[in-house]
Amino acid sequence: MNRRNFIRSGCTFCAGAIGAGFIVSTMCSCASLPIYKGTTEQNKISIPLSNFKDSKILIVRNNQMEFDILLVKNSETDVNALLMKCSHQDNQLTATKNGLFCSAHGSSFDLQGNVTKEPAMSPLSKFRTEINNQIITVFLK
Ligand code: FES
Repeated sequence: MNRRNFIRSGCTFCAGAIGAGFIVSTMCSCASLPIYKGTTEQNKISIPLSNFKDSKILIVRNNQMEFDILLVKNSETDVNALLMKCSHQDNQLTATKNGLFCSAHGSSFDLQGNVTKEPAMSPLSKFRTEINNQIITVFLK
């Protein structure tokens, strides 16, 4: 499933769930999460810490990458960068404030990238990060 189809199916799911009267705050919070559209330079993306605003998570989107990256701010000096690609069969994940969810077969992951629900068996891929002068650098290789 490519990104465009995923977004279309994800939004269709949310709209359907809301129409059916389900409480979907955790599954549909993707729309309310901040998104930073960064550019890559020499296999790195730089993101000002100020983009987190009131949230401890931030989605980083880049046209050169097939999958988004979820940044999780553990502290002012510690940020995790998780590839939003399901470790089961490579589906784009949906991020929420509580973790990540895969719409393909129902796997879920915590904000550290650990599996919380199978069928996925492996944690999410992580990128090395560095914080200097209020700028987070994500090293893509
Ligand atoms: S691809 Fe994500 S659970 Fe199967």
